[in-house]
Amino acid sequence: MKYSQDILFSAILLASGTAALKDGVGLKPHMGWSSWNVAQCNAASARYALDTANKFISLGLKDLGYQYINIDDCWSTKNRDGSGKLVPDPSKWPNGIKAVVDQIHGMGLKFGLYGCAGTQTCAGYPGSEGREKSDVAQLVSWGVDFWKYDNCYTPCRQNPRPQTCQNPTANTTQFYAPMRDAIVAANAKETNKLHFNLCNWGRDQVWTWGANYGHSWRMSVDNWGDWASVERIGSSAAGIHQYSAPGGFNDLDMLYIGSSKINENQSKLHFGLWAITKSPLVLGLDLNKISSSHLAIIKNKGLIDINQDPLGKAATTFRPPGAAAPAQGKIYPYWAGPLSDGVVIGLCAGTSAGKYSVNFKDVPGLSDRTYTWKEMFTGQSGSGTSISFDISLHDMRVIKVSTT
Ligand SMILES: *[C@@H]1O[C@H](CO)[C@@H](O)[C@H](O)[C@H]1NC(C)=O
Ligand SMILES: *[C@@H]1O[C@H](CO)[C@@H](O)[C@H](O)[C@H]1NC(C)=O
Repeated sequence: MKYSQDILFSAILLASGTAALKDGVGLKPHMGWSSWNVAQCNAASARYALDTANKFISLGLKDLGYQYINIDDCWSTKNRDGSGKLVPDPSKWPNGIKAVVDQIHGMGLKFGLYGCAGTQTCAGYPGSEGREKSDVAQLVSWGVDFWKYDNCYTPCRQNPRPQTCQNPTANTTQFYAPMRDAIVAANAKETNKLHFNLCNWGRDQVWTWGANYGHSWRMSVDNWGDWASVERIGSSAAGIHQYSAPGGFNDLDMLYIGSSKINENQSKLHFGLWAITKSPLVLGLDLNKISSSHLAIIKNKGLIDINQDPLGKAATTFRPPGAAAPAQGKIYPYWAGPLSDGVVIGLCAGTSAGKYSVNFKDVPGLSDRTYTWKEMFTGQSGSGTSISFDISLHDMRVIKVSTT
């Protein structure tokens, strides 16, 4: 059986001619919400899922493309049932999972759950190691659309296995392959397909093989909601931009807009950089408590359209003549990437406030001529051969240059 799945997978790879799973899932970075940052284990409930789904509609987020309501760790009971099945915690899911999924589907939205490649999830709930097919069958029977797969309690040279292994017995690919095989097999016959999100914390250079295994992959350890996280994750997105493409995207982790540890301008840069690097846009915040200024950031249609551009190519850094070289771990000022109808330029005051200018002829994808452009945070627009903005510390400007 294992053998035939491998053959099936090879056939899919050969048929597609590329690395991506090519099952039509994840052709654009996914957009949605995840429960973890809101109230950790307590938010893994029907109440939070349905409340957030309602907010997606009442706040106009659904209309902008936010779609997935993803429940993170702690949704099940601590033990499987007598036949080895996962059991939704009845205190959190009084009518089970399927009733909630049906309701969310009825609202035109999608529903996600969380599991783990090891023996337990990070919070100590049942993991899927050795149970992959049975667990996928349960997800399919409930109509689940998305599966985040964490990396806790995976095979380790330490005994007993720790939550976070520092000395794994194998490349993470081996821990993720059985779930990938189960999902590929399910997606080949179900109309309701699962998005497989690899959460191996960027280990084993997951960006080099992630598209063979899933539809998106976390390329770093968690975003802790502080500026240091935005710097650490945002700066490392530049070097791996080439791996993102329709069907498989670098996942820079949840958007911590509204975190008390970052200010307004840092929140704008956080959202803007995640958008242009084609990260999934997954809100990690309580929509009941969102401020109007943060709502304006996450509802910036210009930035969302850039993120969702069908070309699916991530922006990366470029170095204009005379500019300093990028510094490790710091957010470089100059970013650009292709769009189906233009080029996006990101200007980040990542290390100092000041005037940031570029001549279009120095931007990859543009040439020595006049273009029309529009800035997405201020709404400014213009036409010319260059742009120039005064930018406050840790703020950002995102300029769409039209080439059509
Ligand atoms: C892990 O395995 C993948 C797939 O075979 C390979 O591309 C990658 O280089 C490996 N990573 C490490 C660190 O061994
Ligand atoms: C944020 O940026 C605005 C304008 O771009 C500026 O007026 C404000 O002082 C900045 N705030 C901080 C905390 O740097």
